[in-house]
Amino acid sequence: MTERLSKFGYVVSRVFSTWISCYNSAFNFLFYLPCGGETSFRRRCFKFASLAAGDSILDVCCGAGELTSVIARQGLTGQVFGVDISESALDLARRKTPRIPATFLRASADCLPFDSSRFDKCFVSFGLHHMGGKQRRRTLIEIHRILAPKGTLYVIDYNLPESGLRRLTAVAFTKLDESKEAYQMLQSRSLTNEIRKARFQIERRDLACQGIIQLLEMVKM
Ligand SMILES: C[S@@+](CC[C@H](N)C(=O)[O-])C[C@H]1O[C@@H](n2cnc3c(N)ncnc32)[C@H](O)[C@@H]1O
Repeated sequence: MTERLSKFGYVVSRVFSTWISCYNSAFNFLFYLPCGGETSFRRRCFKFASLAAGDSILDVCCGAGELTSVIARQGLTGQVFGVDISESALDLARRKTPRIPATFLRASADCLPFDSSRFDKCFVSFGLHHMGGKQRRRTLIEIHRILAPKGTLYVIDYNLPESGLRRLTAVAFTKLDESKEAYQMLQSRSLTNEIRKARFQIERRDLACQGIIQLLEMVKM
């Protein structure tokens, strides 16, 4: 009986994980379609950032390392780190990118295991919307700490277009597929204020995916 149950459990978990990974792939496919696909979107993020040879770079909330690997593959010679709270995401990042010169560490974004002023550039791609307001503010302050004077932070996250179908799509994506925090961050448009309060100056803003995603470049003041 136990054997049958555990076999049943195994089958259910396999079906579930296959379904989840199909769902994630389908979601990513649809989500990045207006940007010409995920690879093209990641390259666009990389190009948006003004990275220089020798820059030491941190990707906060790196997940499975999609953006980290695009950055590290450019061979800019400086060190590249990815941090995430999820060990399984980091495992995936390490497995998917065994030969890229990046180091993946487990850490919470609001308590980074690095000395102050350690990095020239930092990225947070689709990470801030996972946090409640307090944690997001702590995270921005923590990133300010680990960045060198005049260091640059790049934030890639949802944007709420002014009106119409695009606005509806952004709301639908965050409400149906993301957390309560994501929807709140989008609706309140609080991100730019939080960024300024954490003593960053926004230098550039670009929109992607029909205006549903924003790319922000900001400098540590
Ligand atoms: C939507 S994924 C984004 C992954 C990747 N940056 C990308 O662009 O695809 C969000 C990631 O943020 C991580 N995360 C959420 N809260 C975090 C926190 N407080 N500290 C570190 N990572 C966190 C999650 O584990 C998840 O891997």
